[in-house]
Amino acid sequence: MTIASESSVAPAAVTTLGTEWWRSAVIYQIYPRSFADLTGDGVGDLPGITSRLDSLAALGVDAIWLSPFYTSPQKDAGYDVADYCDVDPLFGTLADFDAMQNRAHELGLRVIVDIVPNHTSDAHRWFQEAVASPAGSVERARYMFRDGKGESGEIAPNNWESVFGGPAWTRLVEPDGTPGQWYLHLFDSSQPDLDWENPWVREQFRAILRFWLDRGVDGFRVDVAHGMIKAPGLPDFTPAPGGSMGGSSAPAEGVSLEPGISDHSEDQPTAPFWAQDGVHEIYRDWHEVLAGYEGDRVLCAEAWVEPLTKLARWVRPDEMHQAFNFSYLETPFSGPALRRVIDESIAAFSGVGAPSTWVLSNHDVVRHASRLALTAENPQGAGIGPKSAGLPDTELGLRRARAASALMLSLPGSAYVYQGEELGLPEAIDLPDEARQDPTWFRTNGERYGRDGCRVPIPWEADSPAFGFNTTGASWLPQPAGWSVYARDAQAGVAGSTLELYTRILAARQEYDLGMGSVEWLDGFGEAVVAFRNGPVTVVSNTGRVPVELPLGSVLVASENVDGGILPPDTTVWLIGTE
Ligand code: GLC
Repeated sequence: MTIASESSVAPAAVTTLGTEWWRSAVIYQIYPRSFADLTGDGVGDLPGITSRLDSLAALGVDAIWLSPFYTSPQKDAGYDVADYCDVDPLFGTLADFDAMQNRAHELGLRVIVDIVPNHTSDAHRWFQEAVASPAGSVERARYMFRDGKGESGEIAPNNWESVFGGPAWTRLVEPDGTPGQWYLHLFDSSQPDLDWENPWVREQFRAILRFWLDRGVDGFRVDVAHGMIKAPGLPDFTPAPGGSMGGSSAPAEGVSLEPGISDHSEDQPTAPFWAQDGVHEIYRDWHEVLAGYEGDRVLCAEAWVEPLTKLARWVRPDEMHQAFNFSYLETPFSGPALRRVIDESIAAFSGVGAPSTWVLSNHDVVRHASRLALTAENPQGAGIGPKSAGLPDTELGLRRARAASALMLSLPGSAYVYQGEELGLPEAIDLPDEARQDPTWFRTNGERYGRDGCRVPIPWEADSPAFGFNTTGASWLPQPAGWSVYARDAQAGVAGSTLELYTRILAARQEYDLGMGSVEWLDGFGEAVVAFRNGPVTVVSNTGRVPVELPLGSVLVASENVDGGILPPDTTVWLIGTE
């Protein structure tokens, strides 16, 4: 069979998504530290983002989500917030935020900001006041302070471990120098957990939401949205064999049936700090706050919850609008596993009237251009570095990433793209030890590399200092020398480049309204092939080792060359005009 011709695609238009725009939106994650640095100090900033927004409009995304830029000591790259209603000088000012948002809106891009409600920074005034106040005070009641066990309170209140490694409790030294109470931190010791049973905490966050809604944001990505309520009595927890306290923030894995397919029953034991029913009341409350504003504002949950049927409770009609589909992210590039997770996602989310979301990369996971070619187990959050087992083949990783992205972006629902994936960026593996900054690296004494490798400043111009990230050449994490080939200006207008592939995909997705479409499976291609129709578009993705014959049709998108009507391994194609 032969492919008749390449069909043409209209250039990406400024988005005109109407009400409930989020049901089909492609949302681009900006990691402000590493996007664009106008001041030249080596850390990205808000004016830098403003200066580069045109490229995102040209790429064809509908919205941007910004990781935190709030006042913070930056112990966890800004996920340790010291003031939720101000901008850290590292990133600019509130006026810079307004200018950035105005420009985004002018370009038709919605703006979603990150909110971090599970914990604050230990530099937050609320925590400072709590530490300065006695046990049992209203100030201490904002956080999870407990007396220790043992004769003199020297044993932590329970056995919970921090997601970043080490114990989840730290003992205070009282102002008079004596050891005092312990406080809970599911993450770094600089990130004390708030007590969300306390109405005062709830009131503070309603005000924070309103502060940003009044400024005009289109929504919030809610950090650790599955962790805010802890089981009564804070019972000890011992993960199932092979499980963990939570990897990065994931619950213990289900029983593995085959690679990438776990036991998707709801009977898996849940850690007493994840996915407690009490969180839903908070999101119903937040839903009401957003509903009081015009213009379709949204809440998106970062909730590492399995199975999908359970995650779907985060997006019931009166709760959040979207939840990241990490089950999809964690699925290997394998036909049976992908078909299953796509089916389960659509069934679970549509069962509560929500769109499914799709995501392959973010600032917490190994970039999918590397992850999909790893040949050894790599628990989420562990990261990869020079001494990791099963390091990926770069060429194969990129090829698979392009195929995986072309598949993901053909699916109905909303999709997330992490900055740099449109350039085919791999994980930066060879970061020197002394450059690493992730608390995971420190809290595990270098046993886990952590997440720095996916956070390196992105390349814009092949021949400029810091590849155009700034004009001084400074970079808070060193950029690999070979990254000029990934630079945006080296790919723009170059046929076959990853940037052109994404641009074409997003234009075609919009033209055929795939985000509002459906999946109608096609059989007959073999186990390793994922094939379906979404409206007039036929999508065929070959995850196997042998080439596959394609049906007759015109090629709309192809992640690799498909001359002669043959779909090679690790390739995805979109066709129209098939029988
Ligand atoms: C979320 C963020 C991650 C952060 C953690 C603690 O998982 O995505 O980057 O370290 O929460 O706030």
